[in-house]
Amino acid sequence: MPIADTLNRPLRDLRISLIDRCNFRCPYCMPKEQFHEHYRFLKSQERLSFDEIVRLARLFAGLGVRKLRLTGGEPLLRANLADLVGDLTDVRGIDDIALTTNGVLLGQHAVDLHANGLRRVTVSLDTLDKEIFARMSGGFGALEQVLSGIDAAIAAGLTPVKINAVIERGLNDHTALDLLERFRGLPVIVRFIEFMDVGNRNNWRPELVVPSRELAERVNARWPIQPVSQNYPGEVAKRWHFEDGAGEVGFISSISQPFCGACSRARLSSEGKFYTCLFATQGLDLRAPLRAGSDDTEMLQLIRGAWGNRTDRYSELREELRRTSPSPKKIEMNYIGG
Ligand SMILES: C[S@@+](CC[C@H](N)C(=O)[O-])C[C@H]1O[C@@H](n2cnc3c(N)ncnc32)[C@H](O)[C@@H]1O
Ligand code: SF4
Repeated sequence: MPIADTLNRPLRDLRISLIDRCNFRCPYCMPKEQFHEHYRFLKSQERLSFDEIVRLARLFAGLGVRKLRLTGGEPLLRANLADLVGDLTDVRGIDDIALTTNGVLLGQHAVDLHANGLRRVTVSLDTLDKEIFARMSGGFGALEQVLSGIDAAIAAGLTPVKINAVIERGLNDHTALDLLERFRGLPVIVRFIEFMDVGNRNNWRPELVVPSRELAERVNARWPIQPVSQNYPGEVAKRWHFEDGAGEVGFISSISQPFCGACSRARLSSEGKFYTCLFATQGLDLRAPLRAGSDDTEMLQLIRGAWGNRTDRYSELREELRRTSPSPKKIEMNYIGG
């Protein structure tokens, strides 16, 4: 039976983090000063096993979840990921499985992932400028590898490939249109993401955000664009078509246009905590009851309870605070990966 929260929002999308580790140290996500060589990442037995993930996916599907997004950390660091994809495609009710990756290992895995049922992939790529890329990935990873990962994904049929580009003013915003120049006309959709605050650790400041509207104007001045209607209620990216028929571009505006109203997303961390908001700091531990032998009815009751009490409107509240207070207090936010 589908469930709804206190604001009558259903639970449709589940973002599953497969691993808290990453082979990048993007300063906006996992700054290397904090995620250093002695940082205590989860040990493998602390992470949910593939069997546990599949069991939870079945339970969530029974509560209305239709879409799974596999993420991390860097999900392709998890060995045999294609096997998990294969098992998840068999879960009744799930009609869409997506993967978000930094793309470095995609070249090695694209064919297997497609063969096991993955149909879509999102690759995070903030710039085509080598030096800026190095800064935005913390000095790890090679731009060439990400680009060949994208090529491999296209060749394997994981299309349209979506590209997520986080845009920060004064850092990579002047290179944003280069991404469109390169990928327009290919089976690739570039989506620009407003730089978001993640706790107090990524040096976020409002002046570093390039509002989507401003970026859309810059795009429109070069290649005229027209808005496209949403694919489904609560779709995160606002989509625009290029008038010349060269595809589309998306904008994810969680800072300038918060979209909590129709939010049907939740996330499951790699250690098995269920968060009812991408930015929530408190999650419900599902790993302990799973490992203590709780049956499906008990697990469903726990999940129902958490979603039924959900009141989260983080992005909207942050916006309200910003408008009503000259120096708004930061709302503590969680690492959106992990
Ligand atoms: C946390 S990463 C995990 C998956 C994978 N490692 C990757 O980079 O695609 C998922 C997405 O969150 C985005 N992200 C992380 N921190 C962000 C921030 N502070 N503001 C906006 N987007 C952010 C990344 O750019 C990426 O597209
Ligand atoms: S955005 Fe992705 S690639 Fe970058 S540090 Fe975060 S998890 Fe790693």
